[in-house]
Order: sequence, then C-alpha cells, then structure tokens
Amino acid sequence: MSQPAPLHALPDPTTAELIAARPMLKLHTMDGLLMEGVPLQAVADQLGTPAWVYSAGTIRQRLAALTEALAGLNCHIHYAVKANDHLAILDLMRRGGAGADVVSGGELQRAQAAGIAADHIVFSGVGKTVAELRLALAEDIYQINVESHAELEMLSAVAAAMGRTARVALRINPDVDAGTHAKITTGRADNKFGIPFDEAAALYAHAAALPGVEPVGIALHIGSQILAMAPYRAAYTRAAELIRHLRAQGLEVSRMDCGGGLGIGYGDEAGASPQAFAGVLRNSFAGMGLILMTEPGRWLVGPAGVLLASVVLTKGHDRFIVLDAAMNDLVRPAMYDAYHGIVPLAAGNAVGAPRDVDVVGPVCETGDTFARGRAMPLVAAGGRVAILDAGAYGAVMSSTYNARPLAPIALVDGDRWATIRPRQEVTALWAAETIPDLTA
Ligand code: LLP
Repeated sequence: MSQPAPLHALPDPTTAELIAARPMLKLHTMDGLLMEGVPLQAVADQLGTPAWVYSAGTIRQRLAALTEALAGLNCHIHYAVKANDHLAILDLMRRGGAGADVVSGGELQRAQAAGIAADHIVFSGVGKTVAELRLALAEDIYQINVESHAELEMLSAVAAAMGRTARVALRINPDVDAGTHAKITTGRADNKFGIPFDEAAALYAHAAALPGVEPVGIALHIGSQILAMAPYRAAYTRAAELIRHLRAQGLEVSRMDCGGGLGIGYGDEAGASPQAFAGVLRNSFAGMGLILMTEPGRWLVGPAGVLLASVVLTKGHDRFIVLDAAMNDLVRPAMYDAYHGIVPLAAGNAVGAPRDVDVVGPVCETGDTFARGRAMPLVAAGGRVAILDAGAYGAVMSSTYNARPLAPIALVDGDRWATIRPRQEVTALWAAETIPDLTA
C-alpha cells in the first residue's frame, strides 16, 4: 500500500497566506472577512452558525477557466453532481454550459430539476439498480457508464424489455495509482471500480452483439484530489491503446470519458492546472477524432465554499477551541484526515500570535476534530471562524448525527447574497417518525 499523499505542505500557512491564496476572500479592516463583496459576519448575524456560504462568482469563473483551457479539444464538461448538488449550484453549471455526471437516480432527478437536459447527463456508478437503469433509459440520457459484466447484462435485458437502446461506455480500471488518499483512490486493480483492463476488449465486443445496448466509448476515473499529471497520463495512455485495439477489430469507439479528480490547493499550494490537464488530453488522444468528456467536481466548487462557525468556548488552557460546527456538518477532516484552512472572521476575533491549537466540534467522538496542533491565532468564545474550501463534499456529506439539524446555506454573488436553504427545523428531524402500536 502506498502512503496517502500529504494534503498540504507543512508548515501551516498563516491566516494572511490562506486569504491571499483565495481570490474571492479579502480581509477588510472594518467589515472583517469578505466573500466577493459580502461581509461574512453579516451572513452569520442573519443565519446564525454553523452556516455554509458559496461564492457564485468563483464557480462561474472556475467553470469558464476550465472551459477555456479545454477549447479546441471537443471535450464536454459533465459536472460531478456528488460534489455539491444544491439546485442553485447545478443551475450555475447549466448556465455555464456544463452537463452533469450523476451516480444515482436521485442525482439524475436533481440534475433535471435544475434544468439540465437528459442529453447532457452521464450516469456513472458501480451498483446501479434496475429501477435506476429504467429511469435513465426512460429519460434517454446521453450515456450510461457500465462498470461490470453483470451490469452490462442487466442493462441489456432492461433496455430490450423497454424497447430502448442505451448508449454505453465501458468504465475500465486502468490499474493506475493516483497517489491520493487511500479512501478516494479508484483506479487501482484492487479498487471496486471499473472493468479489469485486460477484460475490457472482449466485453466491448460482447456489448456490440447484445440487444438494447450500443457501446460508444470508454470511461475511466482514477481518483480524487489528484495534483500530479503523471497518473492521468498513464491512465489515458492505456485507454488510447485500448481504443486503437478495438478500432482495429472493426468496433466503433467515438467517445472517451476521462473522469474527474482534479485537485485543489487546501493550504496555500496551487491546485491542479487546467492547462496542464488539457495538455495531457491533447497528447493522449491527438488525432483520434474522439468526443472527449471530463467529470470534475471538487475543482469547480471546492474553493467556492466556506463553513462559518462560532467558538462556543475554549478549554484545556486554551489548547482546544470548541466550535458549534461539527463532523456531522463537515466530515472530511474526520473521515480523510483532510486539511482545511481555518481563519478568524474578523481581525478582532483573533487573540495574540499564532499558537498550536486543536479545533474541535461538540459531537461525542474524538474524531470530531477539524484541526490538530494547528498553528493559528486563538479565537475566544463568541468569536467566529470560516473553515475554508468546503464547497465540495461539504454539505452533501452532512448528517444529522447527535440530532443536529442541517445547517443553512447562503449564496453570494458580487455584493449581494441570498439564503438558498434555511436551517432545518429541529422538529423536522423526527417529523416522519412514528411510534408503532406494537410496542405500546
Ligand atoms: N467521476 C466519478 C465517476 C467519480 O466517482 C467522482 C468522485 C468524480 C467524477 C468527481 O471527482 P472530483 O473531480 O470531485 O475529484 N468525498 C471525497 C471525494 C470522493 C470522490 C468520489 N468520486 C472527499 O471529500 O475528498
């Protein structure tokens, strides 16, 4: 097993470095931390904490930058809905020209609810149910990425019974180590994802002979939070080799779905470069006449979100800063030991020079820790902080553990902002529950 790559370069960046590396954040002497033109204190005053805040301008700008880098490659962006599935975010993606990559019937319906057309939707996932396949066929989506022999047979049978034909890409497992955290690597032979590389050619030929399915391409996705280009290069080289082999046998291959995974800088380091990624695509598939697709999630939305929290109290001679946000809101630090920058919302909240502190939540688990031994200024009770880069795999992974309602969400655009989801009422947590007669 390779060691997970460190998520940021040590030592801890300072508050000033974290803010300087994020173009949508500014520290204003009077108003404190601004997202675009909106003081985050004002959002916290109105919504309370914990609260999520997303920057529309950042998402627009990142989608435009990626689109520009991919220009001339005939490469279509299918935003990975799982990263942040709020309708307002999906609407920004649609307006920016992106389609959707979905992994469940629920995500498919969410994407459509935000106005993303079926012919801009790709369905990935290792265990799609018959009901989900039926939905995808009924909606006639652009492509279904098939991940196993069993799924191919299942899809063929369901489609044939419905009198439909599914456009299918076979998701191969290229056996490439993306060098990312073990829990988010997907393209190694021992991961559950995809079809083993050396079985893919035979399965593609088999698919071409089956009713109800039309094989149109190859797909792969090797992992998430990938900062180096070498794993992509290795995976795409194998895919191009497979496509040439299939074509030499007279099989038609018109599409290549290149997956997602582009990483971002969680500290003050740079994220993956869209230009470098485009360069790898250009070199790997030059002259092959393919329709390319990519499925980024984190790169588009991760840097665009923060989680606002208040300090409930400090304890242990100020070693522990206890927040009102917890692992049920943002699980990434507990689940992947992920680093997230934490900055005071106002300069006046920060007390003294940086010192090593543990920033924790109130949930009854030691894993409910946002930062351990982090060099940052102390923030006293009542002060507020922003936990950075929480726009991807943040709110979507929240739970209501410890009967903590889901936090509200605000969207900032320029100097205006709107609440796009109110705080969940605590009574909503048990509103659908019943106590049955049989236990009375
Ligand atoms: N396509 C497929 C088939 C995927 O499985 C994923 C993510 C993506 C695209 C988008 O990957 P991205 O561009 O966002 O890296 N919860 C974890 C990340 C899980 C990623 C799962 N698959 C985290 O918080 O780091």
